[in-house]
Amino acid sequence: MDKLVIDGPSSLSGVVEISRAKNSVLKLLAACLMTSESVIIEAMPELQDVKTMLKLLKHLGAEVTTLPGTQNVKINCEKINQWKAHYELVKTMRASILVLGPLLGRFGQAEVSLPGGCAIGARPIDIHLKGLEKLGAKITLEAGYVRAEASELVGATIVLPFPSVGATENIMMAAVFAKGKTVIENAAKEPEISDLGNFLMKLFPELVIEGDGTSTLTIHGVDRKTTKVAQNVTYLPIGDRIEAATYLMAAVTTNSEVTLTGFYPKHISAVTHVLEEMGANLEIINDKDHPKIKTKKYLKPLKAVHVDTAPYPGFPTDAQAQLMAVMLSATGTSVVTEHIFENRFMHVPELERMGAKITLKGNAAVIEGPCQLKGAPVMCTDLRASAALVVAALNAEGKTDIQRVYHLDRGYENLEEKLSQLGCVIKRERA
Ligand code: UD1
Repeated sequence: MDKLVIDGPSSLSGVVEISRAKNSVLKLLAACLMTSESVIIEAMPELQDVKTMLKLLKHLGAEVTTLPGTQNVKINCEKINQWKAHYELVKTMRASILVLGPLLGRFGQAEVSLPGGCAIGARPIDIHLKGLEKLGAKITLEAGYVRAEASELVGATIVLPFPSVGATENIMMAAVFAKGKTVIENAAKEPEISDLGNFLMKLFPELVIEGDGTSTLTIHGVDRKTTKVAQNVTYLPIGDRIEAATYLMAAVTTNSEVTLTGFYPKHISAVTHVLEEMGANLEIINDKDHPKIKTKKYLKPLKAVHVDTAPYPGFPTDAQAQLMAVMLSATGTSVVTEHIFENRFMHVPELERMGAKITLKGNAAVIEGPCQLKGAPVMCTDLRASAALVVAALNAEGKTDIQRVYHLDRGYENLEEKLSQLGCVIKRERA
């Protein structure tokens, strides 16, 4: 098992090109199951989760080809001959549940193992399943598998009890081939959902999805047998806002001058707002073709803040752990309250090993700063918790050994290369 060794404290400088969004790419890949035509997804990030989803697609019968000399991947799902996603493939990645809606819509049946993924709480899929049932699917649960069947899906109004990202996406994909109109109320508004909507409308030119970026999505379903299917669709997914937020926090906590490109700053406005409140000096350039954020040195120490995670456009739960690492370098008592997942403080004991003073009170963490962290052996427990350890290690004195790096490899492309280009002393070792 690999480990990362970071020798801190680090001062960063230079430019980071943010990769395409993991949480978008995974859904786009699932949506490829809906078309019999070839699709090219450009700049596919080399991530473990993406490899897992491609493996799942291949298992279902898809042809997957990486175009020579590029990271563009061609996917052809004409010959899908399986409707079952097995435990072995699903257990490592919760997003595998996203093949349920597309398979059900196109083939009238799907069977998916109950998902695994990050151990950040119970993470049920009841909202997905109730939504699919409302469209007419018969759902059964047996031996750890969810089976969905429907000879025909029919549009309906579905009110989500919580704006679940995955449920919004699964229902949206199933609704593409449902008869008539499907309205999803209290839908999630994450940018990755807009990206998926745009992709689906490219795949099926007669499809109309209204309400992009709002909490009411209306999908005017098309007939899968007669609708026009676009050929040779090429699609560039949006940049990864969580990766961008992570590098931004790395730059801010080390008071470094770094430029981040390849994503839309407005997708992380909740993050930039909090960092500015803390005293970060950011230049946000919303240029249409070349948006970027530049971090500049700040003269006064960072200040403590109170932050609550919330569905988009609120502060993302996926950036909470990394923010906590920044809060350790701020003066005063900061508080992070986690409202999305109930077990998302697994980074806290690891940060404490580095000298952090954090007290947990239910779903809140109270962080005392400033704190001079010291390098220590620490363990990754989930994807974003691991990113927090990296951000903390950049500010720590001495060597931090970050073990179980496979969590990071699920979601951060070329992390060592990107950080070493910025001047961080980092290497990967076999543990
Ligand atoms: C997605 C993201 C993940 C992010 C999360 C919240 C992907 C691959 N993952 O996860 O990185 O942290 O959004 O922004 O895009 N819930 C239910 N029943 C359901 C579905 C969800 O109770 O059927 C609950 C979950 O347990 C959780 C909350 O709703 O407490 C949010 O989950 P959801 O928005 O569905 O997250 P994911 O789509 O799994």
